[in-house]
Amino acid sequence: MARIELKGLRKVFGRNIEAVKNLDFTIEEGEFVVIVGPSGCGKTTTLRMIAGFEEPTAGEIEIDGRLVNDVDPGDRGVGMVFQTHALFPHKTIAENIEFGPRMKKVPEETRKQKVREVADMVRITHLLHKLPVECSGGEAQRAALARTLITDPTAFLLDEPLSSLDAKLRREMRAEIDRLHEELKKTFVYVTHDQEEAMTLADRIVVMRDGVIEQVGTPLEIYNDPVSYFVADFFGSPSMNLIAGAVEGSNGAAAFSGAGIEFKLPDAYAGVSSGEYTLGVRPEHIVVGSQDAAFSCDIQLVEPLGKDTLLYFEHGAERPTIAVIEASDRFKEGERLNVTFDPAHVYLFEPDGTRVR
Ligand SMILES: Nc1ncnc2c1ncn2[C@@H]1O[C@H](COP(=O)(O)OP(=O)(O)O)[C@@H](O)[C@H]1O
Ligand SMILES: [Mg+2]
Repeated sequence: MARIELKGLRKVFGRNIEAVKNLDFTIEEGEFVVIVGPSGCGKTTTLRMIAGFEEPTAGEIEIDGRLVNDVDPGDRGVGMVFQTHALFPHKTIAENIEFGPRMKKVPEETRKQKVREVADMVRITHLLHKLPVECSGGEAQRAALARTLITDPTAFLLDEPLSSLDAKLRREMRAEIDRLHEELKKTFVYVTHDQEEAMTLADRIVVMRDGVIEQVGTPLEIYNDPVSYFVADFFGSPSMNLIAGAVEGSNGAAAFSGAGIEFKLPDAYAGVSSGEYTLGVRPEHIVVGSQDAAFSCDIQLVEPLGKDTLLYFEHGAERPTIAVIEASDRFKEGERLNVTFDPAHVYLFEPDGTRVR
């Protein structure tokens, strides 16, 4: 088991590419932490510094209380799984898996038994005699997992391990990785740009943006209580409706207007000062067809998704406002509807992106 502490971690490439600016964060023993953020925000660099493949420009990395900045990757007790599996093409899956232990001169009998054990864990026993080219993408990625498992690391570091797989396989493998974590009870640090992977896998999510941590929280905290426009926009599918406009207060009440909307804000926002803001409402908190109307609008598009139906409204905001409702053929494109927002679930953001509380 491993507790990983990052203290003031920073990485500058060349003269001025500040990939990671100043990370302070502790990953607890046995925790499944997902580092998520858009491409280029410093996720891989962070993981590679923990693994020891990249030297920090400043800051410290401690694993179980031991400073490991100067410890070789192989001696840190962590195992990394990469985005592309990088199996040796001319070795069988079994030979690929036992490569590490063979280099460490582990006796053959022990090695063979360990290979069977880890192959069983990721369910590829039937593939051990095959070459990587004879395996599917998902099978090869399982083999890559097995190759890391056999080294018996105290922490697993995974860098977008599923991004080369198609959607269905990705979901299957996601469940596998979840199961592995349950079984092994070891520390997992998982990097992805996919908010859905983060939501489904993480005990705790670390949201990164431009080399810094934007927010840390459980999936539900991140979803329900985003600290900023950036986080609100990043999580959820379809994403939160974000509508630019202005707030004006009078007699202790505040109202939002913009893009054809007039909406009385809940009392929690009564004291907010007048000015420009962005209103945020998730698609599941849009109320359609009621007496109340924040705005009235023709339905531009009805999109049935099986279990749910999406309704699109074009009312002059930057993006169409999307409502998700239970599957229904009640509503027709072109039909005019009253649309309003569940007041318990509206968010307000300052022009600089911080959330108004
Ligand atoms: N070896 C490198 N040399 C120069 N710049 C790099 C190197 N590795 C990463 N970068 C830059 O650092 C930033 C963060 O990269 P990375 O950690 O790979 O982001 P992510 O994994 O979140 O997509 C990017 O701007 C990237 O171009
Ligand atoms: Mg990356």
